[in-house]
Amino acid sequence: MPKEVFGLDYPFADRHQILSFEEIERLAKIYVALGVSKIRLTGGEPLLRRHLEALVEKLARIEGVELTLTTNGSALKTQARALKDAGLNRITVSLDALDDKTFTAMNDVNFPVERVLEGIEEAQHVGLTPIKINMVVKRGVNDHSILPMATYFRKHGHILRFIEYMDVGHSNGWRMDDVVSAREIIDIIHAVFPLEPAHKNYSGEVANRWRYCDGTGEIGVIASVTQAFCRDCTRARVSTEGMFFTCLFATQGHDLRVLLRGGYSDTEITKHIVDIWQQRDDRYSEIRTQATVALPKVEMSYIGG
Ligand SMILES: C[S@@+](CC[C@H](N)C(=O)[O-])C[C@H]1O[C@@H](n2cnc3c(N)ncnc32)[C@H](O)[C@@H]1O
Repeated sequence: MPKEVFGLDYPFADRHQILSFEEIERLAKIYVALGVSKIRLTGGEPLLRRHLEALVEKLARIEGVELTLTTNGSALKTQARALKDAGLNRITVSLDALDDKTFTAMNDVNFPVERVLEGIEEAQHVGLTPIKINMVVKRGVNDHSILPMATYFRKHGHILRFIEYMDVGHSNGWRMDDVVSAREIIDIIHAVFPLEPAHKNYSGEVANRWRYCDGTGEIGVIASVTQAFCRDCTRARVSTEGMFFTCLFATQGHDLRVLLRGGYSDTEITKHIVDIWQQRDDRYSEIRTQATVALPKVEMSYIGG
């Protein structure tokens, strides 16, 4: 969220525009009845939502759901225990470098890396495990951090996942030249810590898994630019305002809030979701070129990753 776009005068959503915890719970139950088995709270930054643990408690009560969350880690140290107690299963933390200068160059935030590392430690301590660390790699900005990050998280036993830098939204000024491919990332690590490929945990898993040959754990690479996986994508996304998106690169969402607040029954909302899902034909990552970058798309900070 570059500060020049999302400044103090940015028209963020009002309270009444965003879904209440009860509305989110109702939608979650509908999706789970349709076969969803994993729910991930993203954002924005989920730990900024007041009383988030109350939402976690509601969602954790839904039978058959694995509940997880992606956070920038800035408030994790103080909230990890409450989230675990509320029923959160595990956590993913975004961290793009280990030194403050590179970290800030990537995300423009005003908290130090140390705070994120303390949050990760606390998450480990309370049992929000296995912990995954997301590192987006941008050429010339943090690619020199690939090896230090691998070294650090290998030692600490967390699963580091490298994400190819994507053209979500418009505010990040993406160019193909900025992308460091998954292949390059693997080569850099393999030269120092030999790797071997590992099978996917489940069909539709977005990361390709690699194991350290010496048995010290694994890493993942999410090659969404160089090896598109649209065909296997099973992700449905709902924004905080209740817009349903069938693709991370979608132009338009489908308004579920209007149904939730319009007196529609669960059966009617279910039918609506099924209709949208069955008609989806998104395959943006397969057709991406420098020319598609300019297409209207929702921002990453809105759709959540
Ligand atoms: C949009 S964030 C939302 C959750 C939370 N605020 C956080 O920072 O983790 C979700 C994930 O998307 C990743 N991400 C953001 N911009 C990206 C981009 N342009 N390409 C690839 N991944 C990106 C982030 O690093 C993070 O791991």
